[in-house]
Amino acid sequence: MPANTIEQVIEPEFAIYNADCVEITRYMPDNSVHYSIFSPPFASLYTYSNSDRDMGNCSSDTEFFGHFHFLIRELYRVIMPGRLVSFHCMNLPTSKAHHGYIGIRDFRGDLIRAFEAEGWIYHSEVCIWKDPVIAQQRTKALGLLHKQIVKDSAMSRQGIPDYLITMRKPGVNPEAITGEFEEFIGEGLDVSCAAYDQHVAKVRANGREPWPFKMWRSVSVWQKYASPVWMDINPNNTLQYRSAREEKDEKHICPLQLDVIARGVELWSNPGDIVFSPFAGIGSEGYQSIKMGRQFVGVELKNIYYKSAVSNLRIAVQESFDDLLA
Ligand SMILES: C[S@@+](CC[C@H](N)C(=O)[O-])C[C@H]1O[C@@H](n2cnc3c(N)ncnc32)[C@H](O)[C@@H]1O
Repeated sequence: MPANTIEQVIEPEFAIYNADCVEITRYMPDNSVHYSIFSPPFASLYTYSNSDRDMGNCSSDTEFFGHFHFLIRELYRVIMPGRLVSFHCMNLPTSKAHHGYIGIRDFRGDLIRAFEAEGWIYHSEVCIWKDPVIAQQRTKALGLLHKQIVKDSAMSRQGIPDYLITMRKPGVNPEAITGEFEEFIGEGLDVSCAAYDQHVAKVRANGREPWPFKMWRSVSVWQKYASPVWMDINPNNTLQYRSAREEKDEKHICPLQLDVIARGVELWSNPGDIVFSPFAGIGSEGYQSIKMGRQFVGVELKNIYYKSAVSNLRIAVQESFDDLLA
């Protein structure tokens, strides 16, 4: 890793760098990362800083992908064979001012194709429901206004959902990701002993023998996670941006929901594995990974977010110790 010119914190549970993710990833050994999950800048939708290295500081999607593809290539080298990278994204609205028309561009598809071009296998995707009313209030998008339906519905559209796209590096996974699900992350599924007792009573009333508790719990959770649409993610379960100094930035950083990260980490890594986020932001992927007993490596370009991430990662370590002692 680069020497002391770069701000970095390296502790037993995590390493985080205040730097450009492409440069840091170049120092990482081949096949050394078990899983990566992150939310990239959405092309030019938000610009986080005026640094040339900020991938959100671009004038077009072409410019974004010109930069991003260096990271995809390095990610391919550092991920273990047969292991996975999940990225959170959405399709992006076009605007009259920038693109000459109001519509949507296929940013999700462009990301998938960019990964495929570097050898990745398109492995899975899940659509994450987003409330169109909140989106309408936040973005003021014409297509979501009820008055537009009344005036001329030719310009009305649905809300734009989030996606968690997962790509796989070809090859045989040398360390199987094993085990049943022991808890459900999200809203609306009860896998407690009391819920199992009710299930047992129903199954027996139909003259059948129920599965053992652990099997029933794991299958019930898997049926939720295997759904192609996740309707059960709590959008408010995110890390808070804690610094008051650059309040105007708060509208820029959009922390990834902890439940989405937790599901990815649970599905595609083992305890003790190394989880990597090249766009660590305020540390959401790291916070959740550490809480789930994984090690974390992160890179964040913007110093104020990096500092927030360091603090959040330390909180995760402390909370994990507290949980152990409880
Ligand atoms: C969508 S945000 C990530 C938020 C993060 N998932 C969280 O929950 O806090 C994208 C982040 O990428 C950072 N970024 C942009 N270009 C970068 C680069 N070249 N290297 C590292 N970080 C970069 C931005 O500063 C921003 O914090």
